[in-house]
Amino acid sequence: MMIPREVVEEVRHRTDIVELIGSYVTLKRAGSNFGGLCPFHSEKTPSFTVFPDSQSFYCFGCGAGGDAITFVMKNDNLDYPSAIEVLASRAGIRVVREQEKEKGGLTRSRVHDMNREAAKFFHKCLLDPIGAEGLKYLTEKRGLSMALIKHFGLGFAPGSFNMLTDYMHKKGFTDQELAQGFLCGISQKNGRAYDYFRNRVMFPIIDTAGNVIAFGGRVMDDSKPKYLNSSDTPAFQKRKNLFALNFAKNYSTERLILCEGYMDVISLHAYGFENAVATLGTAITPEQARLMTKYTKQVVICYDADEAGQRAAIKAMEVLGQVGMDVRVLHVTDAKDPDEFLRKFGDARFRRLVEGSRTEFSYKSEKIFAKYSMDIPEERIKASEELCALIALSPSKVEREIYASMVADKLHISAESLKNDVERTRSKKLRAAKQKEGKDASLAARGYGDRVNPDTAKNVQAVAAEEAILGLLMLYPEHRRMITSGTIVLGEDDFFSGLGKRTFARVMQMEAEEGGFDYSLLGEDFSIDEMGRLQSMLQRRRALAENGTAVLRASVETLKQQKQRSDARESGDAVGSIKQLLDAKKKKI
Ligand code: UTP
Ligand code: MN
Repeated sequence: MMIPREVVEEVRHRTDIVELIGSYVTLKRAGSNFGGLCPFHSEKTPSFTVFPDSQSFYCFGCGAGGDAITFVMKNDNLDYPSAIEVLASRAGIRVVREQEKEKGGLTRSRVHDMNREAAKFFHKCLLDPIGAEGLKYLTEKRGLSMALIKHFGLGFAPGSFNMLTDYMHKKGFTDQELAQGFLCGISQKNGRAYDYFRNRVMFPIIDTAGNVIAFGGRVMDDSKPKYLNSSDTPAFQKRKNLFALNFAKNYSTERLILCEGYMDVISLHAYGFENAVATLGTAITPEQARLMTKYTKQVVICYDADEAGQRAAIKAMEVLGQVGMDVRVLHVTDAKDPDEFLRKFGDARFRRLVEGSRTEFSYKSEKIFAKYSMDIPEERIKASEELCALIALSPSKVEREIYASMVADKLHISAESLKNDVERTRSKKLRAAKQKEGKDASLAARGYGDRVNPDTAKNVQAVAAEEAILGLLMLYPEHRRMITSGTIVLGEDDFFSGLGKRTFARVMQMEAEEGGFDYSLLGEDFSIDEMGRLQSMLQRRRALAENGTAVLRASVETLKQQKQRSDARESGDAVGSIKQLLDAKKKKI
């Protein structure tokens, strides 16, 4: 173990989970627990619960759960030892890691150090003669000032195959570390490291804490790929970060402007719109949308003017709407993107576009009107149908009425009949959604789509029994003692699913050899999603304190029967199933 058990115990002892989670999520007391909006999935009504008694949390909506350590791992995207370090330093505890085992694990802070060095190298190259072409590109071709280049820490990666690698060696980084951090590749032919970014202008990506977490590198001509980006590392997930949020978060809480490209953001900042951010080469994710809600309530989407950009804008509206953001859309005209718009028309005109940015409804309805001619009855019918469907999406009746009256005139129909159509469409949609929900629920009940424990679908009863057993074992020391003492005979092989086997083995190992079970220590061996599942097993058995033992015995029995049945089915073992039938009969007598 990299972190000694005593440290984990002390960290947990000194951390109050309500206070910890309360610093990220607005929590409201609900009985002896606390509730709030889940930070891990998009929801409008709270299903996230914090349990002060057991110092744990669980979301009944998405199944995320665990203790303080799991929370920090998930929230800050950290591995287990780093999450403990964060909590330790919060509590003023010094952590000395035991000899780090060769998990090939590059820690977050090592990646930060490495990237910082690399960023310095790239920046220096840009200002040196070797980077003349890069500097010329950024200043002359893209019109950036020196101050702006410095502000964003832009750089240049020379065309050489080993300049960065050599430099980083001198700074004490190994080929392996560089390769894992996506700063170099390893040649398949001779096993030698070579610079990953070559002959590109470099954009460092900086998180809100000021760490350089990744790079994007752009070619200076029309060759492909236009951008090369760092892949995910222990310090970086592209779906969870935004370019320039480190600056934008300090600028204004009124709104953020969301763009597609690094260059758009840099131009916007140059023209005084320092609240601009961009995604990192992917469509916007729910994680990024939630990240924005930490800083603002309104986002203006400002994507490229082409088809693709407009389609992406519609997707982005949905994702942002789902986290309750007030979403606006801005469409630049006579320019392909915000960068070009600013350079052609200046900041005053862009500001007018921002101020006049449209709500989702007016943006989408204008698109529909633009598509059809109101002079042709058939097209008018099509337009009303589409508008009806659009208005029906709004959950507020008042809103629906207002929208219906807004467009009725333009369609040359009465607001009344449009409203009726809208309500009819809406009830139809709700019915269909209910049906789908029912279908999904019945599939889920049969274990389909269980990604955390994929064995569930093979035998739902066995997995349910396993979960009951494991929940009780994790909760009550006396139940664990029944196993170690042999009062109840149960072994790893009796478990059906891979997750069940692993959990049982680890729980009992701690109990027998490591001075007792401790949920907080599981984080080292189980993924965050698995930690959530284990937490749900545990939470759901809490109420069973009184008759827990009977449930435990019955579940062990069920598990063994189900396991036999499944094993027999799998091996097509006729004798086995007959024997099992007989066994079952015997028991009834
Ligand atoms: P754009 O092609 O619009 O690039 O891609 P841009 O940043 O506006 O650059 P200019 O103005 O053409 O110089 C938008 C974003 O998509 C990602 C990058 O994050 C880019 O900023 N992208 C694009 C890639 O990751 N790889 C690519 O090959 C292209
Ligand atoms: Mn662009």
